[in-house]
Amino acid sequence: DGKFTVSLIEGDGIGPEISQSVKDIFEAANVPIKWEPVDVTPRLKDGKTVIPDETIDSISRNYVALKGPLAGHVSLNLTLRRTFNLFANVRPCKSIQGYKTPYDGVDTVLIRENTEGEYSGIEHVVVDGVVQSIKLITRKASERVLRFAFQYAQEVGKNKVRAVHKATIMKMSDGLFLNTARELSKEFPAVEFDAELLDNTCLKVVTDPTPYNDKVLVMPNLYGDILSDMCAGLIGGLGLTPSGNIGDECSIFEAVHGSAPDIAGKGLANPTALLLSSIMMLQHMGLHTEANRIQKAIFDVLAEGKTHEYAAAVIQKLA
Ligand code: IPM
Ligand code: MN
Repeated sequence: DGKFTVSLIEGDGIGPEISQSVKDIFEAANVPIKWEPVDVTPRLKDGKTVIPDETIDSISRNYVALKGPLAGHVSLNLTLRRTFNLFANVRPCKSIQGYKTPYDGVDTVLIRENTEGEYSGIEHVVVDGVVQSIKLITRKASERVLRFAFQYAQEVGKNKVRAVHKATIMKMSDGLFLNTARELSKEFPAVEFDAELLDNTCLKVVTDPTPYNDKVLVMPNLYGDILSDMCAGLIGGLGLTPSGNIGDECSIFEAVHGSAPDIAGKGLANPTALLLSSIMMLQHMGLHTEANRIQKAIFDVLAEGKTHEYAAAVIQKLA
């Protein structure tokens, strides 16, 4: 029927209602997408808790998924990223007109390695009172996310890539990441490359984020987790920022905020983060006309300071 099928993980708490807003707005904009709802609630299989096979099959078949917040399933988020090898986590933060913060004109993009680092999940007790957690860094995963960052920078016309690291302390692991970046930068002569220590980036970004607007920041997993929340804070928080987990085959676009069970079902949840993630998804799918149109409607509604009856206001703009 000429439509794309997208797997939809509505998520918990406010997940179903913000997903409904996305569905309503997409319908109003005639987006050629058919939703395939999937359940990620872990099941017991051969004594192990796993994501249901149908869900894995659905995402593998459709290549693209949109995901709402999951309550208390830290490992489920990580399992999804690992299962589909979603090696690059793209997290843009752009100031929203109508949402005043102490910062103006923020337009950062952070790309986070999404499969290893401190997220390796390898930890053990050496002896009682002494534990080791393994920060795993491989050239393969580093090169893969760095290459993605260089290509992404060229695509969006930022043309500068900055690797963020602590190779002064993590000499071997961050050293490998940084050296891989330096090597790879030679393949991209049109992109300016430099590096910065993470602590310095933190200081500078909260002092004045605008010098980061022309750069794509790329870094190991945990640094990206922390720094992306910090960047989100500059523009108003995780309720306003999109995120895309990109792999060679599949990609999952998700709202990074929590499931907010306290306001669930009260019509109070603001769907902006999931909507902006769904726009990233449309762009990824090449549906640029639809993406731009919906984006404009959302920004117009936000500029008017509207948070109540939000989806209805966006739909009205689209009409
Ligand atoms: C994020 C979240 C996740 C992470 C959690 C929920 C596992 O904080 O997407 O940034 O730490 O990566
Ligand atoms: Mn996080």
